[in-house]
Amino acid sequence: MVKVSIKGQTAPGSLAESVRHVKVKLVTISGKGGVGKSLVTTSIAVGLAMRGYKVGILDGDVYGPTVPKMLGLTQSVMYADEKSGKITPVTGPLGIEVVSIDFALPSDDTAVIWRAPLVNQALRDFISQVEWGPLDVLIVDLPPGTGDAPLTIAQSLQGGLDGSIIVTIPTDISRRIVLKSIDFSRRLNIRVAGVVENMCCFKCPDSGTTHYIFGRGVGEKIAEAAGVPFLGGIPIDPEFSQHLDAGKLHEFLQRENETSKSILAIVDKLVEFYRERLTQTPPAPQRRVSLMKLPGDEEES
Ligand SMILES: Nc1ncnc2c1ncn2[C@@H]1O[C@H](COP(=O)(O)OP(=O)(O)OP(=O)(O)O)[C@@H](O)[C@H]1O
Ligand SMILES: [Mg+2]
Repeated sequence: MVKVSIKGQTAPGSLAESVRHVKVKLVTISGKGGVGKSLVTTSIAVGLAMRGYKVGILDGDVYGPTVPKMLGLTQSVMYADEKSGKITPVTGPLGIEVVSIDFALPSDDTAVIWRAPLVNQALRDFISQVEWGPLDVLIVDLPPGTGDAPLTIAQSLQGGLDGSIIVTIPTDISRRIVLKSIDFSRRLNIRVAGVVENMCCFKCPDSGTTHYIFGRGVGEKIAEAAGVPFLGGIPIDPEFSQHLDAGKLHEFLQRENETSKSILAIVDKLVEFYRERLTQTPPAPQRRVSLMKLPGDEEES
């Protein structure tokens, strides 16, 4: 079994409490793995920080945490505050606060081999022990799918979430998966902030021609059919991918290029969507709401 280590003595707390100083709480969802959900989460966080907002990312992918790597934070360790016993997020580039199970694993190659009930418990404990400071936006990168782990996190934060960002790629197979993600979001009473179409196109560096490899406007059509906003598309960009692998996503996006423009356009739509909340003073702690019961919940508790 994997041992997670957090430096210092941690103390339990409630989830509603841990996010009480956060103005806008978002989750990124994708019913399908590998479509670029973590990349979109991290890019939006960087884009928001570039626009001057104070941002946090909760990397909720226990089995495949990737957010720290994208931001070059692989050597970081999470500490528990001496007085409160709360876990302090790691501060990354542009002041982005990051919490990930990756910071608590002994090495980069350690696999988390946990069965679902243990993951659920670990996630609940872990999330509620974090002390998020005042943030404009917290983005939670949910694990892929609509199964146990994403459900646990979404349910745990239920009542406090302001929206979901659905990530897809422009293929017909994705259409059905997006609809599932939208259904997941709605059934958990999380408002859909919009759909992001990752890998929408590819701009040939030689000819300058843009190719819509999987089809043009697919993400927009999916969003329209589902009656949810379309936030925008992000091109396939090999240079972006190289920077990601090198832990320099933030550096790449701070340079002016087509990809950073497309991400900032998405960020600006989100800012517009949540303008009222973002201009408010931090909300008072949310009242605890009873969690929606779903099939299988009873067995676990
Ligand atoms: N627009 C893009 N341009 C270039 N590379 C991309 C793009 N989107 C995704 N990738 C590549 O695809 C890989 C997978 O992306 P990412 O880790 O964000 O997917 P994910 O949906 O979070 O995966 P998982 O379901 O495993 O959590 C990345 O390592 C990145 O290199
Ligand atoms: Mg991921």
